[in-house]
Amino acid sequence: MSRDTPPAVPDTGRGPTPAGLLADRRVVVVGGASGIGRATVTAAAAAGAAVAVLDADTAGAESAAAQARAAGAWARARGVDVTVEAEVADAFDAVAAELGGVDAVLHVAGVMRGQGLDVRDVPLDLWARVIAVNLTGPFLVAKHAARHLTRGDGVLVLVGSKAGVQSGSGSVPYGASKGGLHGLALTLTRQLGPQGIRVHALCPGDIDTPLMRRSLDEARANGADGGRVSAIEAALGRPEEVASVLVLLASPVSAGLAGTVWTG
Ligand SMILES: NC(=O)c1ccc[n+]([C@@H]2O[C@H](COP(=O)([O-])OP(=O)(O)OC[C@H]3O[C@@H](n4cnc5c(N)ncnc54)[C@H](O)[C@@H]3O)[C@@H](O)[C@H]2O)c1
Repeated sequence: MSRDTPPAVPDTGRGPTPAGLLADRRVVVVGGASGIGRATVTAAAAAGAAVAVLDADTAGAESAAAQARAAGAWARARGVDVTVEAEVADAFDAVAAELGGVDAVLHVAGVMRGQGLDVRDVPLDLWARVIAVNLTGPFLVAKHAARHLTRGDGVLVLVGSKAGVQSGSGSVPYGASKGGLHGLALTLTRQLGPQGIRVHALCPGDIDTPLMRRSLDEARANGADGGRVSAIEAALGRPEEVASVLVLLASPVSAGLAGTVWTG
């Protein structure tokens, strides 16, 4: 093979996660039952972390933790609705006690609703639910995670989106919530950074997950341009690609990184 030709990288169906990158790290994945969060549980476990999986879908969280344990990791699950402060507070207290501390919190949980709806037709309760999960949720997670995160090389990552930050969204409340999450992360960077807690917003593009599949169906049902929806569908990325970036951010090797991180 010529030196000008890079070696072919086999598509293993997983993001590349160096074993040992998270050795001795205690990692909490919020929203770890499905999609990007579930891939993150798998990747963090493969990188050597002890993983706590929090999600409103308790059975899904249990199954993600069981999969991580089967791969040899320490993993536990808890059912938590991120919109309920008492549940979030209790979960972080319990997880920190069980793990003996928390080094990284990867907040992935989120919902997408209202795809393709004209602003004139967005019901207030739909708006309120999306804001509650996607903006109040990360606030509550940050508030209670910060009580436990290691000072010195603690990490908090809030998963936002390109929608609402780099571009608009097909959903009015989703775009607004993710724009708000980005502002929250910037503000927390200023506040927690000097305390030795590195904060990032991670903004992925369109990824093939249950959320995205439901969103494409909703867009079609609400009369969105079918050609545009099909083009998005044809170009979806894989959850494992985002998960491997989250693992990297959770690791001390990312200590020199700051601020917002984008993935394709
Ligand atoms: N899939 C994409 O194209 C895409 C693109 C950019 C950003 N994102 C963001 O990535 C994150 C993960 O999305 P995904 O596509 O993997 O979705 P997903 O639906 O597969 O997973 C989301 C998880 O969040 C959990 N969750 C929802 N509401 C919750 C609540 N109130 N409390 C606790 N857990 C709750 C769900 O149970 C689920 O396990 C979301 O924040 C989403 O906005 C996704």
